[in-house]
Amino acid sequence: MSVTAVPTRAVEIDAVAVRFRSKKQDVTAIGEVSLGIAPGEFVSLVGPSGCGKSTLLKLVSGLLTPSAGAVRLLGQPVRGPRHDIGFVFQRAALLDWRSVRRNILLQAEMRGMEPALARERADELIAMTGLTGFEEALPHELSGGMQQRVALCRALLHRPRVLLMDEPFGALDALTREQMNVELHRIWRETGTTVLLVTHSIAEAVYLANRVVVLSARPSTVAEEIAVRLPKIRNYSATMADPAFAAATTRVRELLGAGRDL
Ligand SMILES: Nc1ncnc2c1ncn2[C@@H]1O[C@H](COP(=O)(O)OP(=O)(O)OP(=O)(O)O)[C@@H](O)[C@H]1O
Ligand SMILES: [Mg+2]
Repeated sequence: MSVTAVPTRAVEIDAVAVRFRSKKQDVTAIGEVSLGIAPGEFVSLVGPSGCGKSTLLKLVSGLLTPSAGAVRLLGQPVRGPRHDIGFVFQRAALLDWRSVRRNILLQAEMRGMEPALARERADELIAMTGLTGFEEALPHELSGGMQQRVALCRALLHRPRVLLMDEPFGALDALTREQMNVELHRIWRETGTTVLLVTHSIAEAVYLANRVVVLSARPSTVAEEIAVRLPKIRNYSATMADPAFAAATTRVRELLGAGRDL
């Protein structure tokens, strides 16, 4: 009987450094960062602008090779672009001329998924993200939050075991963002996907995660990892009032030097 080994880490970033060299500049973006993410875990990554958060996501997705150290995804070394991940960016990046459903199905076309199965999964995700009734709408007929929901559906279509998100809700108003946080948390619980989320919102980082990783300024290192001791099912208002939420956000804020009284 063959036994498929289950990796103990979905993502393993091992003593990674990144230097960008050009004729004009030599920038060490990441000094040395190590980080392990267990399967099914939700990790938020925060840090000052320019400390290498997006760079770190690019390393995990194989779009970039580290100058030193190694990255493993689901137990295998990352040696080029990986297709078993999902990626959501700050801007939804939808094709203007394609409907909601056809934007989501783009993922299936790129991966050669079986059309009937892909359509079934797309409709499941459309229902899960509250887009039912908008399947045939074009992107310009949607609000910003709805466009990000479409981007999320597209990223989840092939059931990626790892979802990378780079400030996915940065362009949304505060209320829509809260709503998206609640939805993302539910979707994460339902799909069991491992998530690595980059965000500048401390509340978002803590509300969503099992663990918040705080990076220092460039050249970045891990300043601290903060375990979030909140229940798995999180009511938004109750979470905001929870002492564990206050403890974690206060610590992240201290580390980032945010909100200092002058
Ligand atoms: N392709 C590149 N070539 C040269 N330098 C780069 C490249 N990509 C990123 N950098 C540099 O590396 C550093 C880290 O960039 P990165 O985009 O990862 O930061 P970030 O933490 O995501 O910032 P932000 O919070 O503003 O999005 C920056 O100083 C940036 O100028
Ligand atoms: Mg960035």
